[in-house]
Amino acid sequence: MGPDGGGPAPGPARSRAVELRGLLSRAAHAYYVLDAPEMEDPVYDRLYRELLELEQAHPELIAPDSPTQRVGGTPAEGFTSVEHRIGLLSLDNAFNLAELEAWYGRLLKVLDREPAEDAPPPALPMVGELKIDGNALALSYERGLLVRAATRGDGERGEEITANVRTIQSVPLRLQLAHPPEWVEVRGEALIPDATFAAINAERQSRGEALFANPRNACAGTLRQLDPRVVAARRLDFFAYTLHLPDGWQPGHGAGAAGKAQPADPARPTSQWDSLSWLQAAGFKVNPNAALLPDLAAVEAFFTHWDTGRRALPYATDGVVVKLNDLRLQDAAGFTQKAPRWAIALKYPAEEAPSKLLRLACQVGRTGVVTPVAEFEPVPLAGTSVSRATLHNADRLAELDLHAGDTIVVRKAGEIIPEVVRVLSELRPAGARRLELPHVCPECGSELVREEGEAATRCVNSSCPAILRGALRHWVSKGALDVDGLGAKLIEQLVDRGLVASIADLYRLDAALLASLERMGARSAEKLVAALVASKVQPWHRQLYGLGIHHVGEVNAKALARAFPSAAELATAAEGTPELITAVYGIGGEIAQSLQQWFATPANQQLLGQLERLGFCLTAGPGELAAAGGGPGNGPGSAEAAPLAGQTFVLTGTLPSLSRSQAQALIEAAGGKVTGSVSKKTSYVVAGEEAGSKLTKAESLGVAVLDEAGLRALLEPGP
Ligand code: IVH
Repeated sequence: MGPDGGGPAPGPARSRAVELRGLLSRAAHAYYVLDAPEMEDPVYDRLYRELLELEQAHPELIAPDSPTQRVGGTPAEGFTSVEHRIGLLSLDNAFNLAELEAWYGRLLKVLDREPAEDAPPPALPMVGELKIDGNALALSYERGLLVRAATRGDGERGEEITANVRTIQSVPLRLQLAHPPEWVEVRGEALIPDATFAAINAERQSRGEALFANPRNACAGTLRQLDPRVVAARRLDFFAYTLHLPDGWQPGHGAGAAGKAQPADPARPTSQWDSLSWLQAAGFKVNPNAALLPDLAAVEAFFTHWDTGRRALPYATDGVVVKLNDLRLQDAAGFTQKAPRWAIALKYPAEEAPSKLLRLACQVGRTGVVTPVAEFEPVPLAGTSVSRATLHNADRLAELDLHAGDTIVVRKAGEIIPEVVRVLSELRPAGARRLELPHVCPECGSELVREEGEAATRCVNSSCPAILRGALRHWVSKGALDVDGLGAKLIEQLVDRGLVASIADLYRLDAALLASLERMGARSAEKLVAALVASKVQPWHRQLYGLGIHHVGEVNAKALARAFPSAAELATAAEGTPELITAVYGIGGEIAQSLQQWFATPANQQLLGQLERLGFCLTAGPGELAAAGGGPGNGPGSAEAAPLAGQTFVLTGTLPSLSRSQAQALIEAAGGKVTGSVSKKTSYVVAGEEAGSKLTKAESLGVAVLDEAGLRALLEPGP
């Protein structure tokens, strides 16, 4: 038969068409729904072409459920609004387990199952499903054939998008039932998998088109495409989750290929769990992660499990949906104005949200690196309100093509620092100005520098107040000198008022002056001065780290301090014998060069001199060397001379002026050891306020207990 043949189709052609439709539909179901391909692609293509040719020769053989009919011919002019046979409700949300429990309490109440006082709440089996972050669809089947697909709309009326939905390969055009009911309403979620979304956006970018904000927006935009061929190319997917059947319908009573021997149709479901099986048997893709949950504890475990589990899924989810399993109980529970009482969406905190850019700010860090920061209208993300996000550097800023007044998409996942992931350029106000990094430092006005091949833009003025503030914050931070009571706000005041122009200046502050500052009392001023004094005995590696030399983090500082037990030795090596520095395990040429630069800078040499005059010894104490596996022993004091050599200390509670690490540093500098638990071998327990079980234990073992004054007395050089 040729493609030009007209006339009625001969019998063999008709039966071959039926056969081909069956083969191709089964193969497509295996591929798209079961994710278990049964047919080689070339075989599928050959059979598909055969059917296509047959249908071209005999157009009367074209059936609406033919695989060739997924993509309709001509684009639509627009969409028509249709009324849903059964309204599409939405879901109430719970944002934490307490709200889930409150929902469950309300459910028990309407079902008249409230527990007697003190009795545990009765367990009602529930189904846990993933809340797919896509777009709800209502599919209508009549006598087994897909006749209509609509968007949710306002829940009562939606837009008719049948031609588009027919292109979704996992939506069956015909139900796999021998005796399909008169009608079936199926609800589920259309979605675009993450990988497909990325490919779509990459292609749009290459064509200079506006990007979609997220897979859900891309999916919604696609479903409203007038040309089904575009929809087909976007490869949407669909998970079915709800089923409505005519009242009283039972399998075997509907219209269909009666009389033919067929596998039995599944029974009418009496539970949500059965509905999911029914949908699967009818040919739908059902999300495989649904679970039957016997009680509320199981629901909570399901929610917690998927909080992390969902990250590995190839599509977006924004929570779990919990549904009462028993359909009769669902009926009994009924609905509120807009949502069923028998179901609840338990949502994970959003990790990505749009917001409006208010300002491009610039942060100057302690190394002078200028970081562009977006300030925007606050949005709740991953459990916190977020209003600032990093833009990383000038390159990233240019890549985002940020303009004043832009709508941006911000992401914050768990512990991750918020960042701007996308700009919705289609929402940009007309004539908006493109945003760039400034040419001069926003803090000191000096010209910014960007070196060849470097991503960072820097302020290189070492007396820039922003750099100074950063350097001070770093010096007093936990891993460095660990000075309590000197926060960012106070540092800002000290720098702004010109009271502190270098790290050394901190040690010249007196309590009376500090007490005159905003939010400082006499007592906290005194404590701060004491803490600063105490910080002078922090170990050498902490001081080295605190200097904030580029590339010298905590780990490198320890390695360097061990190999070069004093600032003088390190400076000498940095200047003249960098090979001694790079010989240290883990230290490379870049670090050596950075040290060389740092020690060669006059301002830094001055700082070291000032610190020494203020009482810092910038040298490893005997304890440090011992702890580091033994140094050359050529420091100012050898281990034998150390007053606390061989003694073990345990610290507990809060001391009046020393922080834990300062007390430890003092003890170690004097050759003592600090351990975590009290035993008979412990020499002293140093106890402060709110000392706990360690103090009790010391008393019961008869170990000597000291307060801070007692410790200081021990540390005084003996007579
Ligand atoms: S059931 C009457 N199950 O969430 C119950 N909805 O926030 C109707 N959704 O409009 C919904 N996954 O678009 C249900 N497993 C799931 C779902 C789900 C995602 C969507 C659906 C609904 C929205 C409500």
